[in-house]
Amino acid sequence: MPKPTCHDVSVLRITPHGPEGLSHGLWLIELENPGWQTVRPGQFAMLRPTAWGFEPLWARPFSICRATPERLAFLIQAVGRGTRLLTGLRQGDTVTVWGPLGHAFNTEPGVRTLMLAGGVGIAPFVEYTAAHPTPSALSLLFGHRPPLSCYPYEDITRLVTASAFRETSPQDIPLFVARIEEAMADHAGGLALACGPTPFLRTVQKAALKLGVRCQLSLENRMACGIGACLGCVATDTEGRHVQSCTRGPVFWANEITL
Ligand SMILES: Cc1cc2nc3c(=O)[nH]c(=O)nc-3n(C[C@H](O)[C@H](O)[C@H](O)COP(=O)(O)OP(=O)(O)OC[C@H]3O[C@@H](n4cnc5c(N)ncnc54)[C@H](O)[C@@H]3O)c2cc1C
Ligand code: FES
Repeated sequence: MPKPTCHDVSVLRITPHGPEGLSHGLWLIELENPGWQTVRPGQFAMLRPTAWGFEPLWARPFSICRATPERLAFLIQAVGRGTRLLTGLRQGDTVTVWGPLGHAFNTEPGVRTLMLAGGVGIAPFVEYTAAHPTPSALSLLFGHRPPLSCYPYEDITRLVTASAFRETSPQDIPLFVARIEEAMADHAGGLALACGPTPFLRTVQKAALKLGVRCQLSLENRMACGIGACLGCVATDTEGRHVQSCTRGPVFWANEITL
C-alpha cells in the first residue's frame, strides 16, 4: 500500500449536498488531489484547515467519498465544532490533508457484495462502486434520516441496484433491522460491507454472525492523530486486545471486533 503523505491543498468547491443539504448540515467538499494515485475505497483522510491555527488542535477524519486524479471529495455532516468550521470553508481556502489512511474494504470481483450504509456512512461506497471492476455484482441498502437528496445516493444507483429506508421515528428501527436481516440472508455465500453509526454496525454484525455472512465493518471511532500514535481511537478485538482503529482499521472483519 502506498505511504500516506501530508499536503496543503486548496478547496476547489464546497456546496451543501442537494436542495435540502444546508438545512440538514450535509456538505460536499472537493479538494485538490495532492497526487494520491492509489486511493482504495474505505480509506480515509485527516482534514485540518490551516486557518484553525491551534484551535481546534486536532484534524478530523473523513472517508474518501470520491477520488479522481484532480479531486478528492468528502461528504461532511456538521455535528460539532470541527465539522461546522469545515463546512464554513470557502473556495480557495487551504486545508492540510493527511492520507490516504487505514485499511480498505475488500474488493472481490464477481462476488455478490451487499453494501450497507447508515447516514454519512454512504460516503465510502461512492468510491467503492465507482472503482469496482464488476458493479453488476453490487447492491446497496441505505438507511437515512435527512432526505435522500442530502446524500450521494444517485451516484451509486446509476451503477447498482439499491434501496433506501428513511427513519422518521424510533418506531421505524425494527422495520429497518428486519430489512437488514432480510438483505443479509439473501447474501449467504457473498460479502457484506457496512459503514455507519455504531448501533447500526452492531445490528449488521449480529445478523452477519447469525447468518454466517462474511462481513466487514468500517468503524467511525473518534480519532485525533489518525496514524496510530495517540491511542485515541482504540477498539477491542474479540480476543480482548486493544487495537487502534486508525491503523488496524477502520475496516475490520465482523467476527474480529467487539462493538
Ligand atoms: C474513519 C472515519 C471516517 C469518517 N467519515 C466521515 C464522513 O465521511 N463524513 C462525516 O460527516 N463524518 C465522518 N466521520 C465522523 C467525523 O470524523 C466526526 O463527525 C467528526 O470528527 C466530528 O468532529 P466535530 O469536531 O464536528 O465534533 P465534536 O465537536 O468533536 O463532537 C460533536 C458530536 O459529534 C460526535 N462525534 C465526534 N466524533 C465522532 C465520530 N468519529 N463518529 C461519530 N460521532 C462523532 C460527538 O460524540 C459529539 O456528539 C468519520 C470518522 C472516522 C473515524
Ligand atoms: S487516532 Fe491516534 S492512535 Fe488512532
